[in-house]
Amino acid sequence: MLYKFFRIFLFRFRPEFIHNLIFGVLPFFKFLFPLLRPFYSFNDLTNDFTVNGLRFRNRLGIAAGLDKNGELIEFWDTAGFSHIEVGTVTPLPQPGNPKPRLFRLVKDKGIINRMGFNNKGAEHIKKKILKAKKRTRKDFVIGVNIGKNKQTLLENAFEDYAKCLDTLYEAGDYFTINISSPNTEGLRELQGRKFLKDLLFEIIMKRNEIMKARNLPEKNIFLKIAPDLTDEEIKSIYEDSVYYGLNGIIATNTTITRDGLKTSIEQEGGLSGKPLKAMSDAVLKKLSELNRGKKDFILIGAGGVFSASDYKDKMLYGADLVQIYTGLIYEGFGIAKKILK
Ligand SMILES: Cc1cc2nc3c(=O)[nH]c(=O)nc-3n(C[C@H](O)[C@H](O)[C@H](O)COP(=O)(O)O)c2cc1C
Repeated sequence: MLYKFFRIFLFRFRPEFIHNLIFGVLPFFKFLFPLLRPFYSFNDLTNDFTVNGLRFRNRLGIAAGLDKNGELIEFWDTAGFSHIEVGTVTPLPQPGNPKPRLFRLVKDKGIINRMGFNNKGAEHIKKKILKAKKRTRKDFVIGVNIGKNKQTLLENAFEDYAKCLDTLYEAGDYFTINISSPNTEGLRELQGRKFLKDLLFEIIMKRNEIMKARNLPEKNIFLKIAPDLTDEEIKSIYEDSVYYGLNGIIATNTTITRDGLKTSIEQEGGLSGKPLKAMSDAVLKKLSELNRGKKDFILIGAGGVFSASDYKDKMLYGADLVQIYTGLIYEGFGIAKKILK
């Protein structure tokens, strides 16, 4: 309720300005985070979940793109989520697309973004994660979403994913291969069979090589896909992911469609929030039909979760874990407790 009033003020300013303001100010209050936990956290002891040895204390996490550089990891632990997906991280730092590149669609409870993987690069983010790990609770999971730099050719994309794995393997608890952002030219082509099989094979080989060479445990690798795929494409991506030994799929990233919007806006980029929900639910449903009976391959639902009822939908359609981004912008930091309770 309090946030709804506060939001009237926040929404008067450009979204990226507010984002940077919050990310600039909150780190100064890190010492207060442990004191805030009782207000935000909801300890649902019966709702934990383990995949391939990695335990999530509850089923709700922060989706990639909100904390691209891992600046507020301790806060997401305080705010009651089981995990944060940092990134998308690229091997080298990059500024992303020119501003403005982030737009609120208030009437639709949506966001359009064309950020373009603005981030401080793998080395910097590795240090951030390792530092944050000393302060977060032991059962808080830090995933890393990895991508390719803008100037890297699609043919060489594997090298960028491999570099990210190499740099961040000790820091991340799991890794997500992002091939579904609409804001890096050509990236979504990696979802097609021409590239995907080789990419997945080489990434899994790279992970195994790192494990052996450095004597490290196996870490889960998930694939994040777009909502703008045909049933055939979903099936083929699912089959390849299982075949090459991935641990799960995140459905979905943002959509490039604009159907049924109340807001009249002509901006390129990916659309998230309420207008995305039905599309991402449909992809999740399709995946869970394909995944029926399989216990070691998980599904993570993302897209349009604002309430307990949206969260229940994702669970009903087959999600093992759920992630949110846009819902947090509209509903505030108390959203995890509200949903999990
Ligand atoms: C501003 C913004 C930036 C995003 N950046 C990324 C990103 O870097 N990598 C990624 O995999 N997804 C990114 N996403 C997609 C979200 O992780 C999520 O999949 C999508 O927004 C759907 O969830 P939502 O409706 O709860 O926002 C971004 C979303 C938004 C709104």
